[in-house]
Amino acid sequence: MHETVEILQSEEVGKGVRTLRFEYHHKVSPGQFFMVWLPGVDEIPMSASYCEGRKGITVKDVGPATRSLCNLRSGDRIGIRGPYGHGYTLHDGRILAVGGGTGMASLLPAVEAIGDPSRVDVAIGARNVSELLFIDRAKAASKNVRTSTDDGTNGLKGTAVDLVADMLSKERYDLVLACGPEKMLFYLLPLLRKHNVRCELSLERYMKCGAGLCGSCALDEKRVCVDGPVFTGEQAQTMIDFGKFRRNEAGQQIKL
Ligand SMILES: Cc1cc2nc3c(=O)[nH]c(=O)nc-3n(C[C@H](O)[C@H](O)[C@H](O)COP(=O)(O)OP(=O)(O)OC[C@H]3O[C@@H](n4cnc5c(N)ncnc54)[C@H](O)[C@@H]3O)c2cc1C
Ligand code: FES
Repeated sequence: MHETVEILQSEEVGKGVRTLRFEYHHKVSPGQFFMVWLPGVDEIPMSASYCEGRKGITVKDVGPATRSLCNLRSGDRIGIRGPYGHGYTLHDGRILAVGGGTGMASLLPAVEAIGDPSRVDVAIGARNVSELLFIDRAKAASKNVRTSTDDGTNGLKGTAVDLVADMLSKERYDLVLACGPEKMLFYLLPLLRKHNVRCELSLERYMKCGAGLCGSCALDEKRVCVDGPVFTGEQAQTMIDFGKFRRNEAGQQIKL
């Protein structure tokens, strides 16, 4: 059942990316997601980018529903249900959070929930400087925030995986949390295995119900909405479709 909420704040946080804040009085854990309903447009999954106090989502304009969300302003209304899914487990020890593009939206609440800036490092990757998200917010929650851009306009020139390789050559981590394009996660996994570091990866699939009923989010035998969206590296390792295929709204297999 949706709850109608009023948008209290709409802020551009990167090129074509906006954060919407609203009051929603339910407990939300880092890594969980909402189903967001825009009457007459669509209902889509969105990670919680703020889990405490005033809740939030951070939306990249990639199609009709996300564009409509990005066009909303204070006073507009949307329907929210959830939160759904399993979030990150915030273990003891040294943690590295790795976010590619809007993947930072799901990760930042986890970085903040760790609550100790010396216990968590952050690697933020994007195609270029205008697409790097939440650097200041990350710096408030971590003493070591590094960036990479594909075109070298900020931080290390290369991919987020190149940046993680550099960070692993200098530091030892007990756990890596990661969210971003699936190809990034696909290439991150063998690097982490080589360094013998456990990880939790947040994955996306097309979703309709968000609650385990329709099967549209199937990833091998898992349903991403209830079994994920956060999976362990061991789980991802055994998934045949991981990093290779997703399914569209018609259930057709599409190469990633
Ligand atoms: C658990 C979860 C959390 C998400 N969190 C966020 C978030 O925090 N911020 C954000 O901007 N987006 C997030 N997304 C992705 C977002 O839901 C889609 O981009 C959105 O549904 C696209 O809708 P649209 O109508 O704007 O575009 P569409 O026209 O439906 O899609 C635009 C393009 O994106 C592709 N696409 C759509 N959905 C997905 C998907 N799930 N995985 C891969 N490709 C897809 C389509 O095939 C098409 O190529 C999340 C998805 C999931 C499953
Ligand atoms: S979206 Fe319906 S089962 Fe996952």
